[in-house]
Amino acid sequence: MSRTTIIDCDPGTDDAIALWLALASPELDVRLVTVAGGNVGLAATTANARAVVGLTGRAIPVVAGAERSLMAPFRFETAVHGQDGLGGVLLPEGPPLAPGIAADAIRDLLRGASPASVTLIGLGPVTNLALAFATEPALVDRVAEIVLMSGAWSEGNITPAAEFNAWNDPEALSILLGLGCPLTMATLDLTAQAFVTPEVVAAMEGRPGGACWRAALAILRALPPSRRMSFRGYPLHDPCAVAWLLAPRLFKGREAQAEVDCGPGPGRGRTVIDRWQRLGRPPNLKLLERLDAPGFFELLAERIAALP
Ligand code: RIB
Ligand code: CA
Repeated sequence: MSRTTIIDCDPGTDDAIALWLALASPELDVRLVTVAGGNVGLAATTANARAVVGLTGRAIPVVAGAERSLMAPFRFETAVHGQDGLGGVLLPEGPPLAPGIAADAIRDLLRGASPASVTLIGLGPVTNLALAFATEPALVDRVAEIVLMSGAWSEGNITPAAEFNAWNDPEALSILLGLGCPLTMATLDLTAQAFVTPEVVAAMEGRPGGACWRAALAILRALPPSRRMSFRGYPLHDPCAVAWLLAPRLFKGREAQAEVDCGPGPGRGRTVIDRWQRLGRPPNLKLLERLDAPGFFELLAERIAALP
């Protein structure tokens, strides 16, 4: 039985690979892709989402959403994703955007769904998802699970304190953490284990595949070595959130309680994650902590190589 799924994203090199992984996997019935400005601004992220989905040949609606966060303009991350957002990898233009705006499209799908039946995957600043629930919180009862790539219990990657998605809209993340539905988080501490090195890419190069696989390999080759990780490679963030839904056996984690610093100071966007229940507050998320990286990369290659 496949999961009815909505993917909210900001493509973004790793978003692109996460989208291909999801669309290649029968476990997920992706009904809607919504887009936020995030990584490189809404014009580029929507064009990229259209192209990435279009390359699979699947007729899945792509709907544009937030051009800015709830409280401020997005800060882009072109140093990682390139000005175009896909590391300079050119894709054929995808089909036109579906009409409307993301938050409405998310609400429309949830309204028509049965209880606890829709899985939401958040791969960027979660402004669109937060807007959907902020104005209609009762829709949370249609949600089976929210899975996010977001946050960190250790050092951030956009500020010392905060991870990029959480930092770009901490208020939105705080809304989702307060919904009370099952929520699973892949933080920077988890995604650091999905570490793309030249050796990892070389091991994949020999696998035959279609246009999506060739584009995914080109994107993997284009990922800039991460300064935060001594320039030895790049953590593949967003596909970890999708992989959790496909192969939970690849992960180890725990229940934890988390909140987001929404203040104006240097800690803004920090996810304060109580892994040891020190504060005695009820858990509000499942925290993914350990990844079987070889198993993850094998799943990624096997699935995406089978796409057109
Ligand atoms: O911090 C990593 C996250 O920020 C990923 O989702 C990446 O695509 C960027 O959006
Ligand atoms: Ca992203």
